[in-house]
Amino acid sequence: MNVIVTGGAGRLGRSVVGQLVDAGHRVVSLDVARSPLIDVEQRIVDLADADATGRALHDAQPDAVVHLAAIAVPFSAPETEILVTNTRLASTVAAASAEAGATRVLMASSPTVIGYGNPAGWAPSRLPIDETHPVAPWNSYALSKVVVEEVVRMTARTLTTMIASAFRPCYVIAPEEWAGAPTQQGHTVRQRLDDVSLAAPSLFNYVDARDAGDFVGAWLDRAESSSSGEAFFVGAPDSLCRADTADALAAAVPELAEAARGLHGHDAVFRSAKAERLVGWRATRLWRDQLAR
Ligand SMILES: NC(=O)c1ccc[n+]([C@@H]2O[C@H](COP(=O)([O-])OP(=O)(O)OC[C@H]3O[C@@H](n4cnc5c(N)ncnc54)[C@H](O)[C@@H]3O)[C@@H](O)[C@H]2O)c1
Repeated sequence: MNVIVTGGAGRLGRSVVGQLVDAGHRVVSLDVARSPLIDVEQRIVDLADADATGRALHDAQPDAVVHLAAIAVPFSAPETEILVTNTRLASTVAAASAEAGATRVLMASSPTVIGYGNPAGWAPSRLPIDETHPVAPWNSYALSKVVVEEVVRMTARTLTTMIASAFRPCYVIAPEEWAGAPTQQGHTVRQRLDDVSLAAPSLFNYVDARDAGDFVGAWLDRAESSSSGEAFFVGAPDSLCRADTADALAAAVPELAEAARGLHGHDAVFRSAKAERLVGWRATRLWRDQLAR
């Protein structure tokens, strides 16, 4: 397939591009930045510019569009800027993809839509959490991702020619980060394991960036058999902590101790069983193996 990846120069985008190329797809990255780490055509486009985005997609005539470009870190810009930028980019890319005749669109959302970490308090309706859990965003980043998922649903509802889904990648760890490069939050993976207060706010979720790339490839292959308008958690089946998940949660987030009893051993808090069922994907690069290499 001809695949456009927006944000292809980013932490997740680079691995998505790599895994799609390895799977035999022809990939073009649209981004405001360029990366020396990907070996595909890279077009510099500000996706907030609807005309420029429309031209880029029209020129590329993609079969599929994978939309990752965003302000990717909560509170890394003023709240209004995050909300406006992320929702604008999703809306612009969805419209331009439809106009260009793409038949598949997959957009990056985030597990943060669930609302964990709310300083005013948060209690899950149950653990582990799957896609049926209600959303409760408490900051502009999470709210923007709820809107991204609604853009996907609107697209699915209105365009029978296009299959659209959203995925919620857990805390993305790029290949070089296993080897000691700083992760998205500036610390290393080992520091995240040694100090549970670093991973506790995200409930110890994580996914290897190449596994997330494999999810994208599997979704492109299987999009027709998974319904349009779906959202998928995409995470490792275990937790990024050395202790059993329930014990780590009880120690770091005591208000979740009771709910955590539903978790066994190293079980992840977020279940990706839907991705396995509908897309045939399961994460294979787990931290105990990756850190040992
Ligand atoms: N990294 C994670 O842990 C994580 C977790 C959940 C969801 N996500 C989502 O996955 C996606 C990718 O995240 P990432 O970690 O690779 O982020 P990143 O910041 O490394 O990459 C985002 C890319 O988008 C590009 N971009 C931003 N604004 C743009 C614009 N106006 N026009 C064109 N390009 C633009 C940036 O230049 C960058 O290369 C985001 O949507 C993010 O919200 C990431």
